Amino acid sequence: MNAVDWAALQSAARAASERAYAPYSHYRVGAAALVSDGRVVAGCNVENAGYGVTLCAECGLVSDLVLGGGGRLIAFTCCNGDGAVIMPCGRCRQLLWEHGGDGLLVETPEGIRGMADVLPQAFGPEDLVRR
Ligand code: THU
Repeated sequence: MNAVDWAALQSAARAASERAYAPYSHYRVGAAALVSDGRVVAGCNVENAGYGVTLCAECGLVSDLVLGGGGRLIAFTCCNGDGAVIMPCGRCRQLLWEHGGDGLLVETPEGIRGMADVLPQAFGPEDLVRR
């Protein structure tokens, strides 16, 4: 595969953040990722009056991935409403691990990192068969 077009992913993440439903926190988030087959998937956060029910942008992105036929996540970025790169929350790191694993590159405020740096010693699908 060719080099990752990070500018295109950033642009998709910013566009997604503009669709966010965040009437409670007013903190918009957009996420975008490149898939192994070349597709770009994206998501935005969707809040709820039951605050704990809130869906992070990464949840929407993973739903977009699966709905569109699956595949592995190759490169991921997410940003807030100001366009600044942010880190996925802990729960969403687990979501990303499931669909990208160690092969996933993540844009962080400190540069591009491998997913194993973002979620060290991750629990994953292999652990369920290794009993
Ligand atoms: N949020 C995300 O969408 N993704 C993250 O990884 C961090 C947090 C959202 C959830 C909530 O709507 C808002 O940001 C404030 O926490």
